[in-house]
Amino acid sequence: MTTPEKSPSSPAVPILSYAELNANPHEVYQAFRSQYPYLRREDGAYIILRAKDVQAFLSDPRTRQVETEALAARGISSGPIMEFVSNSMLFSNGDAHRRRRHPLTKSFAFRLMADLRPKIRTLAEELLSENISAGKMKLRDDYAALIPAITIAGVLGIPKADVPLFTSMAYQVSRVLTTSWTPEDVPGMEAATRDLRDYAANLIAERRRLPRNDFLSEYVAKVDEDAEMSAIEAVMQIVSVILGGSDTTRAAIVIQTSLLIERPDIWQALCADPELTAPAVAEALRYEPSVGSIPRLSLEEIVLDGYAIPRGSFMVLSTLSSMRDPDLFPNPNEFDLLRDRPKWHPVFGGGEHRCLGEALAKIEMEEALSALTRSQLKFKLQSGPLRIHGHAGIRSVDELEVQWM
Ligand code: HEM
Repeated sequence: MTTPEKSPSSPAVPILSYAELNANPHEVYQAFRSQYPYLRREDGAYIILRAKDVQAFLSDPRTRQVETEALAARGISSGPIMEFVSNSMLFSNGDAHRRRRHPLTKSFAFRLMADLRPKIRTLAEELLSENISAGKMKLRDDYAALIPAITIAGVLGIPKADVPLFTSMAYQVSRVLTTSWTPEDVPGMEAATRDLRDYAANLIAERRRLPRNDFLSEYVAKVDEDAEMSAIEAVMQIVSVILGGSDTTRAAIVIQTSLLIERPDIWQALCADPELTAPAVAEALRYEPSVGSIPRLSLEEIVLDGYAIPRGSFMVLSTLSSMRDPDLFPNPNEFDLLRDRPKWHPVFGGGEHRCLGEALAKIEMEEALSALTRSQLKFKLQSGPLRIHGHAGIRSVDELEVQWM
C-alpha cells in the first residue's frame, strides 16, 4: 500500500497495487469497507466497496458502461479484439446497446431456458459417467468447461464434429473479457477472435440461406426484421453470448464444487435434499463469485460520503466486496444456504446490462452440481485447496482434481 493521496476536494484514500488486491481480496475489502466507500488501485481506478453504492451505480445516470476506453488504455486501438469490443452489446450504451440486445432478450428468457434443463442434466451425467471408471477427473477441463461450451454449441446448432474446435476457440477468445492477459498474448488472442468471428458469421449465413426451426434462425429473422444492426454487429452479439457464458460459468462450477466438497455436512444435506441445490448455487456465487466486479465510467464528479470520484474515472463496482457487506448479508463470512437473499442475485449485475444469460447460467450450475450429488459418490479434492485468481472482473481458477469412491 502506498501513502494515502490527499487533495483539497477529497480526504485521503489508500492506494493498493494489483498484487495486494489479488493476494486476498476479501480481507482487504473487509479491512477498508466500513471506513472508506472506495479504494484506489495503482492504475487509477476507483474500487467501490459497499453494497448500496455498487447497486446504485449500475444504473446511475452519472455513470455509463465502459466502451472501448479500457482496451485503448491497454494499447489496443484496432484489430479483431477492438472490432469485437466496438460492436458488442456488453461494451455499449444507449441506442447501440438497445438495438444489439433486443433481438436476443426473448430467446434468453427464463421460461425458454427452462426447456434446456433436461438436455443439460443429461450432458452433466454423461460427462461424469465418461470419467467414472477412472475414479477421478479434472473438474475444470473435463467437466466445468464442457457444460457451458457444449450447451451453447447446442443452442447455436453447431455440428457435433465441430464442438471440440468451437470449445477451444471459445476459451481462447474468452480471455478478452478478463484482465489476465499480457501484451505477448495479444497476437494469439487476435487470431482466435478472428476465427470465432468468422465461424459465427458462417453460422449466420447458413441460417439465412437455409432457415431451421432453431434459436439462430429466429435470431437471424429478428435481426433482418428490425434492420437496425450492421452485419458485423449481428455477428458480434452471437460472439458476446459465447464469451459471456464461457469463463464465467466454468469458473463458477469449479468454485461451487470445491466450496461444497470442503463442507461435508452441507454436501450430505445436498445429497439428501435436491431442493437445496438452488440455494447452494446462489450461496456459492455470493461467497466466492466468478465475476468479481462490473466496470463503469463516471460522467461527472461524484461525491460519495465526502469522497470525490473525478469525472472520467474508471469505476470498479466490486460485487466481491458488496456481497460480503454485512449491511446486505448479515454474517457475510459464513457460508449459509438458508440465508435471506435479494430476489435478484447481485452477481449478475443490474440495470440495462444485467446478465442476459442469468437463467441459463443458473441451470448449468444447478445441473452441474446435482449430477454430482445424485451420483452418491464420495468426492474428495485431490488437488487443493482451490486457487481463485483476481479481485475484479472475470476471475480464473486453477485445475481442480477430484476423486471418488
Ligand atoms: C455464473 C455465470 C455468470 C455470471 C456471474 C455473469 C455475470 C454477468 C454480469 C455481472 C454482467 C453485467 C456486466 C456489466 O454490467 O458490465 C453480465 C452480462 C452479460 N452476460 Fe453474463 N454471467 C454469467 C453467465 C452468462 C451466460 C451463461 C451467458 C450466455 C450464455 C451470459 C451472457 C451475458 C451477456 C451477453 C451479457 C451482456 C449483457 C448486456 O450488456 O446487455 N452470461 N453477465
